[in-house]
Amino acid sequence: MSDNITPQDEKYLRRALELAREGVALTSPNPCVGAVVTDVAGKVVGEGTHTYEGKKHAEVIALEKAGGNAQGGTLYLNLEPCCTTGRTAPCTDVVIKSGVKRVVAAMEDPNPAVCGKGFETLREAGIEVAITESALRDEARKLNEAFAEYIQSRRPFVTLKTAMTLDGKIAPPPQEEGGFSASDHGPSGGWITSDDARAHVQQLRHASDAIMVGVNTVLADDPLLTDRTGLPRRRPLLRIIIDSRLRLPVDSRIVKTAKDDVIVFCAMADERRRQELEMRGIRVEQLPLYHFEEVNIVGARPIKSASGRPDMWKLVKRLGQMQITSLLIEGGALINWAALAAGIVDKVFLYYAPKILAGTGAVPFASGEGFLRMEEAAKVRSLTFHRFAEDFAVEGYLHDPYAPHEPLAPESRGPQLVERD
Ligand SMILES: NC(=O)c1ccc[n+]([C@@H]2O[C@H](COP(=O)([O-])OP(=O)(O)OC[C@H]3O[C@@H](n4cnc5c(N)ncnc54)[C@H](OP(=O)(O)O)[C@@H]3O)[C@@H](O)[C@H]2O)c1
Repeated sequence: MSDNITPQDEKYLRRALELAREGVALTSPNPCVGAVVTDVAGKVVGEGTHTYEGKKHAEVIALEKAGGNAQGGTLYLNLEPCCTTGRTAPCTDVVIKSGVKRVVAAMEDPNPAVCGKGFETLREAGIEVAITESALRDEARKLNEAFAEYIQSRRPFVTLKTAMTLDGKIAPPPQEEGGFSASDHGPSGGWITSDDARAHVQQLRHASDAIMVGVNTVLADDPLLTDRTGLPRRRPLLRIIIDSRLRLPVDSRIVKTAKDDVIVFCAMADERRRQELEMRGIRVEQLPLYHFEEVNIVGARPIKSASGRPDMWKLVKRLGQMQITSLLIEGGALINWAALAAGIVDKVFLYYAPKILAGTGAVPFASGEGFLRMEEAAKVRSLTFHRFAEDFAVEGYLHDPYAPHEPLAPESRGPQLVERD
């Protein structure tokens, strides 16, 4: 950390962060990185944004643009430069050759192979390194939190998003079975939250590699689960349905719009149902079940509700193998509980509308057994409050993706909420 950061440094760091944000949905599984180069007089002579397809790292793009003007200048970055060889040579070599005399950054790279070593390499080459301690550091860390989780554990950073009434209901009482009760104007019973709040959910979808719902949500709401921001993305948002017995209707909107972007995770695949879905371009994968005696425990208590259904830890492990770095869970109540009980949720984004549904029939935020004692309750930390027209949202963390942790080993970690911070 350094305190020798000037207001001008903060200005260019902010610009680097802005450039990094232009890479959202274009860099995964790599981090979002932006770079600014100034010359000896402090004038901007190069800028760059990393995209996965563009391959070149942001600092290399910015330094190439700056050319000889970088000599004696400063390089601003939201993330520590790499010192390892991956798809490209180490960026530290390029920085050293460029002749800049100073590097100002917002944070260390959470990649255990880099983490401080990039800065050390620059210092050894005689380059001054300054790392901000301002709010920009927190912004930079938030921007790359999914990368931080993925690069350490090789599983996606999981955000649980739900829209609910003030009394914690996510839908009115379920309708009679058979046929969809939703319409193009919203899910069964209409939208809970305002246009502004739902536009923000689209931003969350845009920043995610994958989205997941339980099969009952498809049966009730017939959602599309698409990224409708209109912004470019490198890979389509992977739409995931968790559906033990393949009940997903072939006339659902998600099946009708599938373009190599829908995957169904089941527990037992009926061959005829599997073929019906696969013929329509849906990928069907069978996941191992929860093993009741071995791992299906919260605290000291068995969770009966999850047995016979796909194992959530196996699911995130599988998604990690597919280079999915971020997963947005959009419910419903049983899936919310299954994810919380398994301990896969890293962050919650809970949207509240100033409405009260009341009644025992309305669908609660999370059903299933729930945590039976206060000390077992999932602890949500580092809260941020957001306002959207008449609605508000609470964003908070169950796990710190930056805390050093072991690569994913569900068998050894068990499904309990794992304290990582
Ligand atoms: N307001 C919101 O933000 C929001 C968002 C989404 C949904 N909703 C509402 O939520 C309601 C649906 O919620 P829901 O609780 O009935 O269903 P759900 O959570 O959408 O789906 C639950 C189903 O998923 C399957 N499943 C597969 N693997 C599972 C696992 N490991 N653990 C648990 N279930 C697993 C189970 O069916 P199988 O046993 O057949 O596999 C289970 O019945 C709808 O009314 C919808 O409108 C609201």
